[in-house]
Amino acid sequence: MSVVGAVLVLAILGRPPAVGTYFSEERQPSESPLQRPTVLVAIIARNTAHSLHYYLGAIERLDYPKDRISIWAATDHNIDNTSAVLREWLTSVQRLYHYVEWRPLDEPTTYPNELGPKHWTHTRFEYIMKLKQAALKSARKQWADYILYLDTDNILTNDQTLNLLIAENKTVIAPMLVSQTAYSNFWCGITPQGYYRRTAEYFPTRHRQRLGCFAVPMVHSAVLIDLRKEATRDLAFYPPHPEFSWAFDDIIVFAFSCRSAEVQMYVCNKERYGFLNLPGKPQSTLEDDRLNFVHLMLDAMIDGPSMHPSQFTHLPPKYPDKMVFDEVFLINLQRRPDRRKRMLQALYEQEIDCKIIDAVDGSALNSTAIKAMGINMLPGYYDPFSGRILTKGEVGCFLSHHSIWKEVVDRKLNKVVVFEDDVRFEAYFKRKLVRLLAEVEDVGLTWDLIYLGRKLVNPNREEAVENVQNLVAAEYSYWTLAYAISLQGAKKLVNAEPLKRILPVDEFLPIMYDKHTNEEYKKIYPKRDLKAFSVRPLLVFPTHYTGDPEWLSDTETSTIWDDDSMKTDWSGSQKTLKDTQTGATRQSIGSASRDEL
Ligand SMILES: *[C@@H]1O[C@H](CO)[C@@H](O)[C@H](O)[C@H]1NC(C)=O
Ligand SMILES: *[C@@H]1O[C@H](CO)[C@@H](O)[C@H](O)[C@H]1NC(C)=O
Ligand SMILES: *[C@@H]1O[C@H](CO)[C@@H](O)[C@H](O)[C@H]1NC(C)=O
Repeated sequence: MSVVGAVLVLAILGRPPAVGTYFSEERQPSESPLQRPTVLVAIIARNTAHSLHYYLGAIERLDYPKDRISIWAATDHNIDNTSAVLREWLTSVQRLYHYVEWRPLDEPTTYPNELGPKHWTHTRFEYIMKLKQAALKSARKQWADYILYLDTDNILTNDQTLNLLIAENKTVIAPMLVSQTAYSNFWCGITPQGYYRRTAEYFPTRHRQRLGCFAVPMVHSAVLIDLRKEATRDLAFYPPHPEFSWAFDDIIVFAFSCRSAEVQMYVCNKERYGFLNLPGKPQSTLEDDRLNFVHLMLDAMIDGPSMHPSQFTHLPPKYPDKMVFDEVFLINLQRRPDRRKRMLQALYEQEIDCKIIDAVDGSALNSTAIKAMGINMLPGYYDPFSGRILTKGEVGCFLSHHSIWKEVVDRKLNKVVVFEDDVRFEAYFKRKLVRLLAEVEDVGLTWDLIYLGRKLVNPNREEAVENVQNLVAAEYSYWTLAYAISLQGAKKLVNAEPLKRILPVDEFLPIMYDKHTNEEYKKIYPKRDLKAFSVRPLLVFPTHYTGDPEWLSDTETSTIWDDDSMKTDWSGSQKTLKDTQTGATRQSIGSASRDEL
């Protein structure tokens, strides 16, 4: 008898069961549940130091027992810090996971004939196929139940993703990931030559208007394979199937392999699982890729769930500055700390330093106080859409902007930027703004105000500024989401003494540059010589629009300014409605702006 057996016998003898309970059927313990299936996560990283912290953070947060997960990690041809970050992570987490395999290749740092680190040459495709095949081989050797391929610019912000995919019981399945554009990690159609084919199902799927798990001819980037299914024995990334004649690309080789093995691919969009960064163009630099990723991260903060860096790696610090301005102001209501936090983070990620201006809380002002401040409404003002008069929120908003203009004048700041706190940034925001200001200075343009985001009342009528790309003379516009203002501009606005005849600040500005359509209002402000421009395409948008589930405007939902009891109803106001034009522009700007770079 072995030692263990002996101890066991003693233990049983030492504690004799009460007769009638031990042998009764009812009291037998139920069978213990099964352990979770085993999963090998394949990490193949190259030049993604900027997204890697968030990618690894998402993997370590997956709600799945780490001792049932193996990590297979390879990295090669890096010109950035990818290898060091990955090594740091693996060293810290290896004790948590079942098994860790590490295959770094430090030299060479580039492929022959490549145009840049985002360029896919034939050699690179072949190398990635070999790596994916090696990961598959390793998973099979370990008898892993599943292998999860996850590209390093895919961030699984939903920590249930692995559980949800496994529950679908499919052989090959992908979580639908979203990017800043229509791009995603699946195709709904494929041509007989193995190229992407546009189909009617794509957009409803991508935009989650139809929800489910759908059979599709292509999934890539984030793919879970159930290796217990017999048919997977025939799947391979390398060498390509003997009959393979389509384009030499790892995702196409694998789709062909699935097709030959009669394995159906599925994409799931029942939940939001996470994000994927846009693939760069062959000539793109790592800096372009990094900025794209920052943009994706900012969108994730709004659309959720947000990204979080790994707890096991050291995120390099950022160095925010004021761009080319003397000050950057952020207007925020103290009772909206959620917005403050998001905007501060969004600015920090873009390396923009700002000064917070505590917004005047309109709802805290009573009519006596408003009148005591010498504030009077512009005679005859009515909201153009709802017909209602000014709200307290609008008064608070005006006072907040006004206090900034006064500060600009008092501190003699030559040029500043003002942000409200519900702003969604366009990709490359900072780079584009800095470039624009340089061009404006080069041509010696005198300007008072430049809109960075707004709602254009009559599109297509604005004249471009000569020799400055992406700048137009501003026509009548709504909103004050974000704008640049010069010392001269701030002086003009303050000198107009607008508090004595107040109206919403976004109506006041067009009066001052003489583009308001209401002649009555204009009469009240005789000096209307503000030199106003706007960037085109716009650089910021509102985070939400009227009617969106999360829409909440502090200016349009508050009470009428001179009546403390009355709540105004925003539903009548068209001002914040998303016009399809703006929505559509934003989509196309996404790709257009990348082409410019
Ligand atoms: C590279 O990453 C390692 C690990 O996170 C870190 O210690 C090091 O400072 C990084 N180096 C650079 C240049 O960012
Ligand atoms: C999963 O699919 C296999 C066939 O691929 C089937 O035999 C099995 O019963 C399914 N399991 C569940 C839980 O649906
Ligand atoms: C109005 O506000 C002022 C200043 O906050 C306060 O002193 C005053 O009592 C308030 N009046 C009423 C009627 O609430």
